[in-house]
Amino acid sequence: MSFSPSLLSFQNSYSLCKRCNKFIKGSLQVVLTRQRKRPSFRIVFVAATTKHLSPVAPVQTKGCSESENVKVHRKIVVLGSTGSIGTQTLEIVDARPENFQVVGLACGGSRLDQFVSQIRKYQPKIVAVSDMSKVQELQTLLKDLDYDCQIGGGEQGLVDCACFPESELVVTGIVGCAGLIPTVAAIKAGKDICLANKETLIAGGPVIAPLVEKHRVNVLPADSEHSAIFQCLQGVPNGALSKIILTASGGAFRDTPVEDLPYVTLKDALKHPNWTMGAKITIDSATLMNKGLEVIEAHFLFGTAYDNIQVVVHPQSIIHSMIELCDTSVIAQMGWPDMRLPLLYAMSWPHRLLLPYSSLDLVKVGTLSFKEPDRNKYPCLDLAYEAGKRGGTMPAVLNAANEEAVFRFRNNEISYLEIAKVIEYTMGRHEIGLFVEQPSLDDILHADQWARSVARDFSPKLHVMKHSAVA
Ligand SMILES: NC(=O)c1ccc[n+]([C@@H]2O[C@H](COP(=O)([O-])OP(=O)(O)OC[C@H]3O[C@@H](n4cnc5c(N)ncnc54)[C@H](OP(=O)(O)O)[C@@H]3O)[C@@H](O)[C@H]2O)c1
Repeated sequence: MSFSPSLLSFQNSYSLCKRCNKFIKGSLQVVLTRQRKRPSFRIVFVAATTKHLSPVAPVQTKGCSESENVKVHRKIVVLGSTGSIGTQTLEIVDARPENFQVVGLACGGSRLDQFVSQIRKYQPKIVAVSDMSKVQELQTLLKDLDYDCQIGGGEQGLVDCACFPESELVVTGIVGCAGLIPTVAAIKAGKDICLANKETLIAGGPVIAPLVEKHRVNVLPADSEHSAIFQCLQGVPNGALSKIILTASGGAFRDTPVEDLPYVTLKDALKHPNWTMGAKITIDSATLMNKGLEVIEAHFLFGTAYDNIQVVVHPQSIIHSMIELCDTSVIAQMGWPDMRLPLLYAMSWPHRLLLPYSSLDLVKVGTLSFKEPDRNKYPCLDLAYEAGKRGGTMPAVLNAANEEAVFRFRNNEISYLEIAKVIEYTMGRHEIGLFVEQPSLDDILHADQWARSVARDFSPKLHVMKHSAVA
């Protein structure tokens, strides 16, 4: 029997594939056949795609993609919903309402109007503001709400949100150490964590790591660098990771000569070349403390020794980070600098959902370049490695001193270069008698408070730095 080209074709037809038991798209075609030299007509189905075929290579199949009609439906709580991470999380919910339902929202309380609009739009069942003085105002603003919504305040309000029984996943977009206690509560309540709040692991790592193991929850990194490492690690066998290579944009001052740093202003520090983020993290990017904090976070997330975590400046921010394997193969994750991508992956892991973001065009990017961070320009990076390697309460002290120093810089109390001086001084004071090697949560919270008060009161004008050439 032989076929000749089709005589007639009906596009957009569907047929059940016997291999994958799913309807696939194609066309019905009328073709002329010859059987024992006699012509006859047959109708055949021609598939438009071969994507239902199984791959020959043993690729990872744990998660599913949209084409496999996966049903991801997650009830989420967003802590820090009014911030940069929070609003981008809600943008993902807007784009994929069939996959995500917001059941809880929380924030600090400084942008109450925005918070109220979010509550009216997403209709969460529980909400909280950490600032107790705003609770009554929030209740008044929500007086006409036509459904039941639990309104809370203070630390307990945040904890209630984080542990809300109906939720499965908590997105931690609170800035600073305030995110630690609600995250601990969520882990204890068995929630998966979409981790944006860096301070949770940086300050709380020694406490969080055993809790995660005990309660068997997934901590899914949402920060772009850790998401990149996490994505690269999917399918890598245990023990094969030899090095993490964290990429850094270089921040607002990457092209500023080190001699000009004494004169830079807050406005200059807030101009991030590639990313749009909250003010605190943008300043951390300028000092490279953000990268230092990420080194500590990567240590806890992936169990990698500090000496095997390298930082490289990659000004284009296209490679979000890389891993090197024991056979020296290097795997990189790339994409436009857009936080929604790592957030989406953390929210939907191990699945991959379709979103209409523009594809990465490497021809348009043109060049990918890398260089060693200038240790004179970025003394905060060495301070972070030092605190990470010291372990115990030291990372919590580094983090708290940094928060306080950045706050003072934003308030015009100290200069840009004095940020590192405040942190170095506070760490030095902590070393003498107050350091705890294996801290409890209380020890960490105590170290955090202690470091804040020291960093708040210290006058850095006369302090000479050990780490920096720009004293
Ligand atoms: N933005 C990014 O692209 C990005 C990327 C990676 C990691 N992260 C990390 O994600 C976290 C959030 O960053 P962000 O840039 O989204 O910060 P942000 O824009 O400043 O937003 C912070 C959010 O936390 C809330 N908040 C502040 N203090 C609080 C408190 N004491 N209790 C409860 N909520 C409080 C704020 O509420 P108000 O409305 O009251 O201010 C706001 O909703 C940080 O740890 C940051 O390092 C951010």
